[in-house]
Amino acid sequence: MAPVLEVADLHKRFGDTEVLKGIDFSTPAGQVIALIGSSGSGKSTLLRCINMLEVPDKGFVRIDGEEIAMETLRGVRRPADQAQLHRIRAELGMVFQSFNLWSHMTILRNVMEAPLHVQKRPRADVEEQARALLRKVGIAEKADAYPAELSGGQQQRAAIARALCINPKVMLFDEPTSALDPEIEGEVLRVIEVLADEGRTMLLVTHNLKFARDVADRVIFLHQGLIEEDGTVEEVFGSTKSPRLQQFLAAGGH
Ligand SMILES: Nc1ncnc2c1ncn2[C@@H]1O[C@H](COP(=O)(O)OP(=O)(O)OP(=O)(O)O)[C@@H](O)[C@H]1O
Ligand SMILES: [Mg+2]
Repeated sequence: MAPVLEVADLHKRFGDTEVLKGIDFSTPAGQVIALIGSSGSGKSTLLRCINMLEVPDKGFVRIDGEEIAMETLRGVRRPADQAQLHRIRAELGMVFQSFNLWSHMTILRNVMEAPLHVQKRPRADVEEQARALLRKVGIAEKADAYPAELSGGQQQRAAIARALCINPKVMLFDEPTSALDPEIEGEVLRVIEVLADEGRTMLLVTHNLKFARDVADRVIFLHQGLIEEDGTVEEVFGSTKSPRLQQFLAAGGH
């Protein structure tokens, strides 16, 4: 079976700074990967390259065996096929640190927007799924509220429901709880745990090492734009590890 997500020889530079220096990994269906590394190590850039919010300078991304086609025109590299890119992006559920909900739309409309207008699915089906997802993340009663009327934790759970409603093949989370107070963080982490238990394929950037240990099957440690360690939770948090990872773990994951 083809990996659900595959990244090959990914490079990205901003000006003089080479942020990603050749990243390779692939994820079988149902695997939960925690992506850890110190600030500036390239974690967000890697996630953004996977869905082409940033265009990698070199290397490829494959989703469920399908490679995102790239072309280089007058020295500028970019996705070659916009229709393919749209289709593949709709297979990636992305949840950011800031919730990025549409402030002028109710929570229910936020969740229904992409399935209705990008995926062009029937309204009745989408609404049924959207309401079920809002129940699942524990905010069914907020369907008709606007984002500003929700707490940060509720907004992030709405953002997770929105990402799930496109039926993504992979969920990408970029520090989904770092904007939240510690007492609210738990309600979002519990939702992510449920998704992990359901066997969803997820790539999760987090500074919360305890959570990474609890929820992940595999841990990738990024250091200065390269994968420095890649293994099971036991391997990466266990005894055999690089001095850099030891230092990172001793500093509490920052
Ligand atoms: N659009 C951009 N333009 C220029 N430089 C950028 C851009 N995005 C990221 N960088 C730089 O790339 C490096 C990696 O950034 P990135 O956001 O991927 O790190 P990170 O591992 O997510 O860090 P953090 O844990 O703080 O979120 C940093 O030095 C950052 O300043
Ligand atoms: Mg980041």
